[in-house]
Amino acid sequence: MQDKAVDDWIEALLRQMTPEEKAGQLVQLFEFEAGDPDIAAEVAAGRVGSILFVRDPAEIQRLQRIAIEQTRLGIPLLFALDVIHGLRTIFPVPIAMAASWDMQAIEAGQAIAASEARTIGLHWTFAPMVDIARDPRWGRMIEGAGEDPFLGSAVAAAQVRGFQGAALGTPGRIIAGPKHFAGYGAALGGRDYDEAEISESELRNVYFPPFKAALQAGAANVMCAYMALNGVPATGNRWLLRDVLKDEWGFTGFTVSDANSAYDLCEHNFARDPLDAGTRALNAGLDMEMSLLVKYSAFRHLPQALANGDITEADLNEAVRRVLTAKCRMGLFSNPYADLATCDVTLADPAHRDAARDAAERSFVLLRNEGDLLPLDRDTLASLAVIGPLADSARDTLGPWVFDHDLDETVTVLEGIRNKVGEHIRVDHAPGVSMIARQNPSFFDSLPGLEPAARVEVDDDAEIRRAVEQAKSADCTVLVLGEAQNMIGEAASRSSLDLPGRQQELLEAVIATGKPVALLLMSARPIDLKGAAPGAIVNIWYPGSQGGAAVANALFGEAVPGGKLPFNWPRSVGQVPLPYARMKSHRPDERNVRYWNEEGSPLYPFGFGLSYSKFEYSNLRTARPVIMLGETVDVEVDLANTGRYVAAEVAQLYIHQRHGSAVRPVRELKGFRRVVLKPGETRTIAFELRAEDLSYWSSASRGWVQDETIIDVYVGTDSAARLVTSFEVRSPEDQ
Ligand code: NOJ
Repeated sequence: MQDKAVDDWIEALLRQMTPEEKAGQLVQLFEFEAGDPDIAAEVAAGRVGSILFVRDPAEIQRLQRIAIEQTRLGIPLLFALDVIHGLRTIFPVPIAMAASWDMQAIEAGQAIAASEARTIGLHWTFAPMVDIARDPRWGRMIEGAGEDPFLGSAVAAAQVRGFQGAALGTPGRIIAGPKHFAGYGAALGGRDYDEAEISESELRNVYFPPFKAALQAGAANVMCAYMALNGVPATGNRWLLRDVLKDEWGFTGFTVSDANSAYDLCEHNFARDPLDAGTRALNAGLDMEMSLLVKYSAFRHLPQALANGDITEADLNEAVRRVLTAKCRMGLFSNPYADLATCDVTLADPAHRDAARDAAERSFVLLRNEGDLLPLDRDTLASLAVIGPLADSARDTLGPWVFDHDLDETVTVLEGIRNKVGEHIRVDHAPGVSMIARQNPSFFDSLPGLEPAARVEVDDDAEIRRAVEQAKSADCTVLVLGEAQNMIGEAASRSSLDLPGRQQELLEAVIATGKPVALLLMSARPIDLKGAAPGAIVNIWYPGSQGGAAVANALFGEAVPGGKLPFNWPRSVGQVPLPYARMKSHRPDERNVRYWNEEGSPLYPFGFGLSYSKFEYSNLRTARPVIMLGETVDVEVDLANTGRYVAAEVAQLYIHQRHGSAVRPVRELKGFRRVVLKPGETRTIAFELRAEDLSYWSSASRGWVQDETIIDVYVGTDSAARLVTSFEVRSPEDQ
């Protein structure tokens, strides 16, 4: 339908709706157990507009049929789920995908996730999470793209394009809902759900850009955050939802609360009671509430709020209009049911598994490779010890936020290596130590079918001795250490960055054998290895369904790691938060910005990642030494692959402004290009710096500015790049 026809049709529908039916469209309920009679009754009574968490296609059909056939107006339901990094085919966790800096791979991965979701009848995902995360104690950094707004914006847009396609309603795609608006990643002390205090300049320069990018890519939904932003809960925050999102940015989609967060305005000591909570959330600009249970619905009180005159009919209609428009654009009024005949074929598509393996290979970050220990040589290696409590754990290989995965087909690191080397190389395995269970299991651990992996319980002292013996008798040891999947994610913040349990002891004991050791870190936050120095370290994140196959390819050189860290890797937890884009201090010698007991610099800088090959940058130049305000400047650099492998490199461009109306960061990412070069190949890499890249929101003028100034431009392999040039920005009036 054309825009006008959609609008007219929705207006006609709205005119027929009672206040109760309108409020019903704005309520979203969880269904934890398929067949729950209470949910079906709510649907039949027209008190539900959307259901989340149903994953059984037949159950989705059943509930949809009730909505269509048993309610007065037959308005279809929207079915939603957290499809975060895949449905059946599990891709690497989002921060791993961001570490690939490969926007095509990210878009393609989420398009596959969308197709699998749509085939079972889902219409909407609560993703991407675009929260900037600068504190690795915060467990949800795993779901985002790291600490940087420029990279975060590119990743946000790529994910939205993947989920939704070119336009809302594209066949085989689903609604994307960037979240959590806004500032959720700045939780005080890195404690999930805690308050966030963020200045307006920090919000506009750092936290908002990925949301804007997601909306520019067409995202039709936005989820608001749980916590209070600068003292006002995001779900009841009129400045956020109305003034900024809807009025200033012109967002025409619909907003949804986080789970129970409208009702929880009372928990926050913000709303007086659920009626007040519903009233204030709607008035603030919330369109749909997500409720854990019917009794926690604040929006079911909206008819009362209307009768009391506390909300207007116009505002209620506006929220309903936004929800109905999404349903209409998704084609649900004409075609509410999924075609289940194609379900099994889509979910089993081998191309999806290949894409997941390929994505994992692109995401690995090589942090250390002394003496070119990696890649391993299959021809000269006779034996390998694969040690660690995560080496053979299918559930942990997938990472958190998966619901419909297939554990049997998940390839662990041990399996991947065994499949690759066959009979040629002897492979021994020992868990090495127990993987300690998390003390306070999360909400998800209690849901049917989502229990965490059975933890490996061993006699640690005896196991460490066994692991050391295996390491001594092997040509090389591959250690797989890190955090179990439920030690990171929602409600999984940590006050330490150490390896949990006795893994550090195991690491040091294996290194002490003097034999070659390659450490694979399965984690999504920086881990403090306390100076332990194995020959090689690869961050493999939680690599997904085909993770072990991808790891084996990388270990034996069939895939060359080219991932780059999307965050600064601190030396210790005491340094955090430690963003690379910090402001310049008053000290000319920046080495003064440190602790008396420790450096101020990170262990590995943002953007860091080695390769089996070698890259050299030279000849950095700008097209012009002087530009006028508002103009674009071209920047070029020559990049040569001087090593022995065909390999990917991510060339990164950072700027620094020397003076202006406010202090700007020492470095800010403003461009990147991921290129694959053959050995001996040199390529000129071109970047463009536009006025918007040189502008920022200034606290001095409380608005966007571009200064007359000098801009230093750094290009290289990471945020510590030393190749530098500069150009001047002048005002045409000064000519
Ligand atoms: C709570 C989380 O904060 C949010 O990200 C998620 O989408 C909802 N629960 C639904 O699972």
